[in-house]
Amino acid sequence: MGTTKAINVGIDLGTSRTVIACDNGIRTFVPSFVGYAKDAVTEKMLGKKIVFGNEALKYKMGLELYKPIENGVIRYSDESDEETDGYKKSLEVSRELLKHVVELAVKDEKADNLIIRGVVGAPALATLNNKKAILNITKGILNDVMVVSEPFTVAYHLGCLYNYLIIDIGAGTVDLCRMHGTIPSPEDQITSTLAGDHIDRTFLKLVHEKYEEANLTVNMIKRFKEENAFVSTQGERVTIDIPVHGKPRTYDVTDELRQACKEIVPDIVEGIRKLVATFDPEYQNELKGNIILAGGGSQIVGLKKEIETYMLETLGYGRVTKIEEPLFAGANGALMLARDMPEEYWDEIADPE
Ligand SMILES: Nc1ncnc2c1ncn2[C@@H]1O[C@H](COP(=O)(O)OP(=O)(O)OP(=O)(O)O)[C@@H](O)[C@H]1O
Ligand SMILES: [Mg+2]
Repeated sequence: MGTTKAINVGIDLGTSRTVIACDNGIRTFVPSFVGYAKDAVTEKMLGKKIVFGNEALKYKMGLELYKPIENGVIRYSDESDEETDGYKKSLEVSRELLKHVVELAVKDEKADNLIIRGVVGAPALATLNNKKAILNITKGILNDVMVVSEPFTVAYHLGCLYNYLIIDIGAGTVDLCRMHGTIPSPEDQITSTLAGDHIDRTFLKLVHEKYEEANLTVNMIKRFKEENAFVSTQGERVTIDIPVHGKPRTYDVTDELRQACKEIVPDIVEGIRKLVATFDPEYQNELKGNIILAGGGSQIVGLKKEIETYMLETLGYGRVTKIEEPLFAGANGALMLARDMPEEYWDEIADPE
């Protein structure tokens, strides 16, 4: 008989990045891209059939490139028919991505029989089909699994469980979740699909409208946004070097970037207003003072102030705090949940049928 060991992982299967945190201290992420070698030459060059993350982006011309998570969920998992080719492929690709991050986390574990328990985040208002798709891809990779709301994992990580409002600004979705000491229910949560990817698409469209000759991809725009994103009115002008007929030219894109970043704000502030207005009136003020910004998009310069200004105008008061490690909080919280969940909980939730 060999040795047996149980280990917990927290996983944030994100539209932009898939993040894993493990009991053994490993915390890592992979941009959510999977590439399959197009032919034997690519396979020989890479030394493997499948590559992930930045490696997949780097060699994209030799690969069938997939981005399996869309709007925070496994692509096509809104469809009820699991048999369509698109959905089947998307499950297969997502499974490869999950397997890859889990392998990164447990590769140095020596036990003969490793039991892996995982908590996986899903957008606040993911449907039953979306959650079933996640459970489906974990088969054969995780021994026990629980799917929980992403902003709830962030709240759990921060210990912000009572009278807090978490706003997780990701690539595919912005998830708002109000915490009042229990597992949040649907009326505590709001999901908007105007998030980071929407900013990228809008920014690209605006730049193309202004400079027709500019030759840009959404990945170039995204990288540029991550270094310069802002919503404030003051500040320096922002310029980008764009190739035109192969030669770089410098363009001023200040107004376009600000306008694109601002597009996510109305849904966020309306979500805050709704979740505050329908909260227990005794604790509304406390809630207004405990607005937490998480997720990659929380790093947009000036966003915190923009939300506070709006709250002052419409709700009389508001205090917003940005968390320190916006990209890891979800996976860290999922790991903490995995550790804290009593044994009997797992089997119940592991099988949704
Ligand atoms: N400094 C930055 N300023 C603005 N946006 C940023 C910055 N850094 C990252 N982002 C954006 O944040 C998003 C990624 O955040 P995060 O990793 O939280 O998303 P995700 O979990 O992959 O997506 P989702 O939760 O929607 O599935 C991307 O749109 C990315 O471009
Ligand atoms: Mg996320």
